[in-house]
Formats: sequence, C-alpha cells, structure tokens
Amino acid sequence: PLVRSLSVTSLNGLPQWEDEDLPVEDLLLFEVAWEVTNKVGGIYTVIQTKAKITIDEWGENYFLIGPYFEHNVKTQVEVCEPPNPAIKKAVDTLKGQGCQVFFGRWLIEGNPYVMLFDIGSAAWNLDRWKGEFWDACNIGIPFNDREANDALIFGSLTAWFFKEFDDKPNLIAHFHEWQAGAGLILSRFRKLPVATVFTTHATLLGRYLCAASIDFYNKLDQFDIDKEAGERQIYHRYCMERASVHCAHVFTTVSQITAIEAEHMLKRKADVVTPNGLNIKKFSAMHEFQNLHAMYKARIQEFVRGHFYGHLDFSLARTLFFFIAGRYEYSNKGADLFLEALSRLNFLLRVHRSDVTVIVFFIMPTKTNNFNVETLKGQAVRKQLWDTAQCVKEKFGKKLYDALLKGEIPDLNKILDRDDVTIMKRAIFSTQRQSLPPVTTHNMIDDSNDPILNTIRRIGLFNNRTDRVKVILHPEFLSSTSPLLPMDYEDFVRGCHLGVFPSYYEPWGYTPAECTVMGIPSVTTNLSGFGCFLQEHVADPAAYGIYIVDRRYRSPDESCNQLTQFLYGFCQQSRRQRIIQRNRTERLSDLLDWRYLGRYYMHARHLALSRTFPDKFEMEPNAPPKTEGFRYPRPSSVPPSPSVSQHSSPHHSEDEDEDERYDEDEEAERDRKNIKSPLSLGALPQRKKKQHGEYRN
Ligand code: UDP
Ligand code: G6P
Ligand code: GLC
Repeated sequence: PLVRSLSVTSLNGLPQWEDEDLPVEDLLLFEVAWEVTNKVGGIYTVIQTKAKITIDEWGENYFLIGPYFEHNVKTQVEVCEPPNPAIKKAVDTLKGQGCQVFFGRWLIEGNPYVMLFDIGSAAWNLDRWKGEFWDACNIGIPFNDREANDALIFGSLTAWFFKEFDDKPNLIAHFHEWQAGAGLILSRFRKLPVATVFTTHATLLGRYLCAASIDFYNKLDQFDIDKEAGERQIYHRYCMERASVHCAHVFTTVSQITAIEAEHMLKRKADVVTPNGLNIKKFSAMHEFQNLHAMYKARIQEFVRGHFYGHLDFSLARTLFFFIAGRYEYSNKGADLFLEALSRLNFLLRVHRSDVTVIVFFIMPTKTNNFNVETLKGQAVRKQLWDTAQCVKEKFGKKLYDALLKGEIPDLNKILDRDDVTIMKRAIFSTQRQSLPPVTTHNMIDDSNDPILNTIRRIGLFNNRTDRVKVILHPEFLSSTSPLLPMDYEDFVRGCHLGVFPSYYEPWGYTPAECTVMGIPSVTTNLSGFGCFLQEHVADPAAYGIYIVDRRYRSPDESCNQLTQFLYGFCQQSRRQRIIQRNRTERLSDLLDWRYLGRYYMHARHLALSRTFPDKFEMEPNAPPKTEGFRYPRPSSVPPSPSVSQHSSPHHSEDEDEDERYDEDEEAERDRKNIKSPLSLGALPQRKKKQHGEYRN
C-alpha cells in the first residue's frame, strides 16, 4: 500500500508541512462547482486562479466539473476527447444515455481539463432523480425553484459519472458550495469509493440573515435555524447545504469567521480552513505595478473628462479614484456604510477647503436597459473636443513649419485664423450642459427602488460643482469591450487609488485581496474573512495600506466614523506617501499566493484520503495545520500616515513628488532581509512529467 505520512513542524512560527506530496499517479482529482467556466462571483476566482498550482501537482490527473453554457464553452473552452481511458468510458456512457457532456481544456493559466454537463439535455430525468434524492436524504425540492432543480440534475450527473469508474484508480472529489453538493450526497449514499471534500464559501442562512439587518454575529447561537430557513423559503436549499456538509469526509470553509458561522448554521466544525489565494505574477521590474497604475489612471481620467464635461472645474491631478465592486448585496457588501461615510467625507473636504476631489465608482451589477444617453453623450463630447484640438494642432503645426522654413518666428497671435477660432468656440459651446453629470451610467430597470440610488437621493450626492465627492454608479461588471469605459476590471483596479469594501457579510472577499496583490490600498472589515486573515498575519495592516474597519465591536455610527477617518486620512496623503504606501501594500502579495495557501487544500485532500482509504493513506493524528503563527512585522520606517510623517518641503506640489518612488527601496531592502516570506517554505510539489501511456491500468 501507498503510505505517506504528514508531519507539521514550525519554522519561525510558520506552519510547515513535510513530505506532503501524494502519489498522485494512482489518483484522479475532480473539482466540482457551479462556477467552473461560469462567472457568478468569487468562487469562479477561486477555481480559476487555483488551477495552475493544482495542475503543477496533479498534471493530467486533474479535472474540473461544471455546468455547460454555450457561450462559456465558445469563449473559454477548447473541446477535445478525454485522453484518459477511464474518463472516456464514463463520459461515453453518459452520452450514450442522451446526456450531453462537453470535454475540453479550459483556456486559463494551467489549461486544466474541464467536463461540462448540459443540464437541459438531462432534465427529462428530473422527476426520477428527485425521487432518488428523496430516498437518499429525504429532501424534497419544489418544482418552482429552478436553481435547486438544476443543482439536483448537476449533482445526479456527477454521481452517475463517478459510478462509471471501477475502483481503480482511487478518486478524490472536491465539491464547492451547495449547488454542487447533491453530487456529494448521492456519491456517499451510493457508497461510491470516492474521497470527498466539501468547501463552503458562505452559508445560505448567514447571507440571508445578514441581508435582513439582523444582529447576526452577536446572536449566532440563538437562531432557530430550521425555522429561519423555512420562513425565508430556502428550507430545501439549506437542507442540501447541510447534508453536503455532513456527508463530506472533510469539511472546509474559506475563513475562520465562516467556520464559526458554519458551526452554528450547519452544525459541523470545519476540519480545515482553506483560505483563498491568488495566482501572483511578479513583474521583473520592481516598480512595474506603479507604472501600470499611472497608465490605467490616465485611462480612467479620460473617462472622467467625458463624464464631467462642462463641470471640470476640479484638478484631475488632485483627484483620487475610490471604488467598491462585487455582487449587488447592498448592506452585506457595506454599500450603505460607504455611502454614509462618503457623505461625511464630502462635508469634511468642503469645510476644510480641501483641493482634493474624490470620484467614487460603484461597480455592482443589477438589471438595466443598457447605457443612458447622457453618459454616452459625455464621451462623444470629449471625443469631439479631442478631434477639434487635433485638427487645430495640425494647421498650427503646418503654419509654424512653413514659417520656420522661411527663417521666421511666426506671429503667434495670427497663426490661427477666424475659422480656427470659430471651430474652437463651437466646441467649447457644445460642452455646456443643463443637467449635472449623471450619477448612474445605465438606465436602471428599478430606478425608484434601487437602494444605492435611493441613498444618494437622501444624502444629496448629486455631483454638484461644490461637492468634493462625486459618485458614479456603473451597474454592470467592467469589460474591455465596453463602449463607455473600455477596461477590464483588473486594469481599472490598477488605475484607482483605493478600493473600499466595508462588508458586513463577507466569508472571504476577493476584491480587497486582488487590490493588495496589485499594490492598491484598500478598506476591508473585521467581519470579512480576508480582513481577519490579514489581522492575524500582519502586525500593522494600516501601515501596509489595508484599513480594517471594526464592524464587530462598534455601533454602525462608530464604524462609519472610523471609515470616514480612514478615507479623510487617505485624502490628506501626498503623492509621495501614496507611492510609498502602494509599495508596501504590494509587499504582502506572497501571503496571498496560492503557492503558499494551496497547502491548505493539499492538507484537506490528504485528510479525506486518509479517512476514506485508511489502509492506503496514513496520516499523523496531530496533522491539522495551524493557520496562526506567521506575521509580517510593521514596516521598518515611518508610518505613511500624514499626521505622523511630514513632507520635507512645506510647499511641495504634486509635481515635486514625481519619481520619488525609489525612496522606499532602502526600506524595502531592509524589510526583505528581516521578513521571511511565507513562500520561503519551499515550492509546492511539482508533478514529475509522466506520459499518459504510463497511466496505471
Ligand atoms: N469582479 C469582476 N468584474 C468586475 C467586478 C468584480 O470580475 O467588474 C470580480 C472580482 O475580481 C472578484 C469577484 O468579482 O474576484 C467578487 O468576489 P468576492 O469574493 O469579492 O465577492 P462575491 O461576489 O463572491 O461575494
Ligand atoms: C506611479 C507612477 C508615478 C506617478 C504615480 C502617481 O507611482 O510610477 O510616475 O507619479 O504613480 O500616483 P498617484 O497616487 O498620484 O496616482
Ligand atoms: C463567496 C463569498 C465571498 C468569497 C467567495 C469566494 O461568494 O461571498 O466572500 O470571497 O465566495 O470564496
């Protein structure tokens, strides 16, 4: 039998696992999620960014299973035949029964194999499968819950697929979230020889209760959860979630805070916490991310020139871009707190006569009827001004050239004729507008009930000239093919100054983590998995540009004041301080790298194997890894806070700050020597290259 032992030792307080590489040649790993190739929210980011390190370990033995959507396959998948004979046999059996299965390589880094089940093609089995599901776990699914029905079809197909393997090789299947859970429940009920892991990225009840503005965290142990689920008409979904959790050999959550929540809402302690990582690409030039910031900021500024045409009485060099992004869950994502803080910030900037302007983007998708005319017009006006300037510049240049050829310096007052002046005047006249620059870029379907718009109406942030805080609601995810703001989300983030994510309910929260690895400071909370993780691993997160709002032990008003202070303090920083802060932020990247955090996933898999196939896979009883221990110390030099650190010249202008970004190199060098990066643990196991022909048979 294959015996691998796992031991945990500690290096500088940092958890370390030894000899954790599995004999993966004899195993097949499946990862099952509704968000495989299908972007809904952060789970897609987990699966997509983790692929590379999983492929490094598992090579050809790693497969993702998800639902089939035509558009996703067309744009993201290169269809091919399954090279593995056991998989091909199972796929062919399903296809032979009329269920469409698409197999191919997902075109992302790592190029993992994906298997996508066409839910529609198998839907005729629904009634029978509902019966089987009832027999397995006594959960009934109402006919009108399309999402739950789809989840059952998806799960039935998954379990059926696993059944088509004989017991060689061993299978391990990692399921994410309740939508994938039915496959796990059925596999266990049918006693299939599959080691199972279930990861929850949130609990259904947690999300619902928080959204209902209930004092969730102080009442965790007081809820009558069955009743709460019933009252919210999610009883069957909650049962599917709870059954998945209890059927799994190993149960994991994405953060400690969600582990506690799950213990109360789902009644099982997590075996392992598997924090979410990112696939970090290091630039060879250390300051490349700073250059990218400047480049993409210029693109956002172009958009702003159009959006605020006729109202550009503020300096773009003194304008900061803040943003919030994610699924539109108004209070769970803290949009309520953010708007209130913006109102206070607007007041502070005005009374202190600050010359800083803040433009805040809300990137939260909701139902719309496309872009509105006023917004599109803004970009058209900007384009026209640009064209006019180019046209006049051409004529000006030609005349200047002719004069120089004659050996003359032209009379600059005469170099432009009446026509030129007329064209320019007309262009300027076209920038007059009767209305204020729009708050939203789209025609909202439910404009009058939209919670963000209603709050903006209440607090009066209408983009008036006197407002120092301006707001733009972009109720659609960003895309480089947008005619309005043609930028991918990542590029947009790089161009901004601060991400603000004051969530109340946030099991992990990728958005601030993504900011961090791009060297963009952000605001998070001590109710988000990411915020807690940072608090645990970084001695002074604020010094690294991660501001953690206390939403746990303070009243909403106190939290709002704290957030306002963070925002106001940020506005008071000089360019130089911002550059230094971005350098520090970026230095935390290693902590969020899958090459470090992937170890928790490996550990979960080992544990599942040792529980499922104890004769083949042994494990030390003291194995559970500890996530605590490692900490980034405070940066070695002065904190970037404006109140403490003073600029050398009292009258510095923004221009003077240019190119001072290298100042911090010394600090960076010093810290690099002192702080051991989590990656100094050594590389994760790489799979030895193996030809497919060697596959065990
Ligand atoms: N996101 C995106 N495009 C956008 C805005 C956001 O792809 O225009 C992504 C972002 O990169 C992040 C995810 O949406 O990975 C949101 O994940 P998070 O964990 O923050 O929250 P969730 O929506 O899952 O609750
Ligand atoms: C980066 C660039 C600098 C630029 C700065 C602007 O650091 O490398 O050339 O001056 O960004 O920073 P700011 O915070 O004002 O956008
Ligand atoms: C869920 C959570 C989010 C988390 C994501 C990935 O969607 O709401 O906080 O980041 O899953 O785990």
